Amino acid sequence: MRRHFDAYADINWGATEFIVRRDDPRWVLSKSDLLGSHRWYQGQSSSRQIAIGLARQANIAKVAAQFESILVRGLMHYSFRLPNGSPEFRYCVHESVEECNHMMMFQELIDRTGVDAHGVRLWLRLLSSALPHSATLAPNAFFFGVLAGEVPFDRTQADLLRTDDPIHPMVEQVVAIHLAEEARHIAFAHAYLSRNVRGMPRPNRFLLSLYVPLITRLLCNALLVPPRTFFAEFEIPRSVRREAFFSDPSSRRRLRDMYGDTRMLCEQVGLMNPVALLVWRACGIGGRPARYRGEPQRRNLGEDRQADSSAAGPLRTGGPANHQPSFGNVGNRVQVLRAEIPGRGTVHRHQQTGSGQAHHHAPQ
Ligand SMILES: [Fe+2]
Ligand SMILES: [Fe+2]
Repeated sequence: MRRHFDAYADINWGATEFIVRRDDPRWVLSKSDLLGSHRWYQGQSSSRQIAIGLARQANIAKVAAQFESILVRGLMHYSFRLPNGSPEFRYCVHESVEECNHMMMFQELIDRTGVDAHGVRLWLRLLSSALPHSATLAPNAFFFGVLAGEVPFDRTQADLLRTDDPIHPMVEQVVAIHLAEEARHIAFAHAYLSRNVRGMPRPNRFLLSLYVPLITRLLCNALLVPPRTFFAEFEIPRSVRREAFFSDPSSRRRLRDMYGDTRMLCEQVGLMNPVALLVWRACGIGGRPARYRGEPQRRNLGEDRQADSSAAGPLRTGGPANHQPSFGNVGNRVQVLRAEIPGRGTVHRHQQTGSGQAHHHAPQ
């Protein structure tokens, strides 16, 4: 909580390497992406892959910014009622500051792509002003919603940085910053829920146990599946949409694997009863809880659709990079930030050891 990134001080938006060109193959979706790894996408012409890649990445950024807007409003409601001297106040407001910076950097990215990104689906748009009130009405449910939204972004962004696919430097920098800070937000949500759920009255805890898998799956779909306008615009067949999100065995497994940590948390705080287990399974996200936070659920990113994707490669474990990001100070700070996060033993591509100076922001 001692450091955070600034959307404008830490990112040089005017850099020539940030210029977006519509013939730049670095906009092709990574094989870590649910659609990018599908054989239909890989069979498209390069120009179509780029157009779809640009639109998808801009829409993911838009959805992320909108989700964070809901989250910040919830944190404001929650912190408004906290008593003087509460350590949670400082954390919640600090997290809001970080999320506001994320919203600004996502919007900068979207605007530079030139894509008029649609953002979240209608139901989430309609509920976006009501959902933040759950932070005061049912804070535990709210923080499970926070986890439900942050985990899919964390997992998909970490998967992206683990690949050796070329990534546009603007996306790479934004994702690296986001990943570093989200890990801390996820750690806070886990700590908050670990402390508060056990003390809930039994009936409330039972209801929460059924709510968690539902909101987790609902938000996962809302955040990861592009809107129907996207599929219509690029004439993506229904079967591809179904398979990629989430009917074929590999995408079903990726979906389940995303939530090992959440299942572990639920088990630890008494939210895994026989009925809840059925709901988890019915939502397609049941499975073994992680043994510790950040436990890898899969050996290999490429194994999912190996048969479909000759480009699929092994999970990077810190070997020599064939695509070095040019981060300046940011790469160092990403590493510093990630090193601070307990239970995050995951590999990532930013192994720079330059002489960058950490940019300290002490929350007021
Ligand atoms: Fe964020
Ligand atoms: Fe966050």
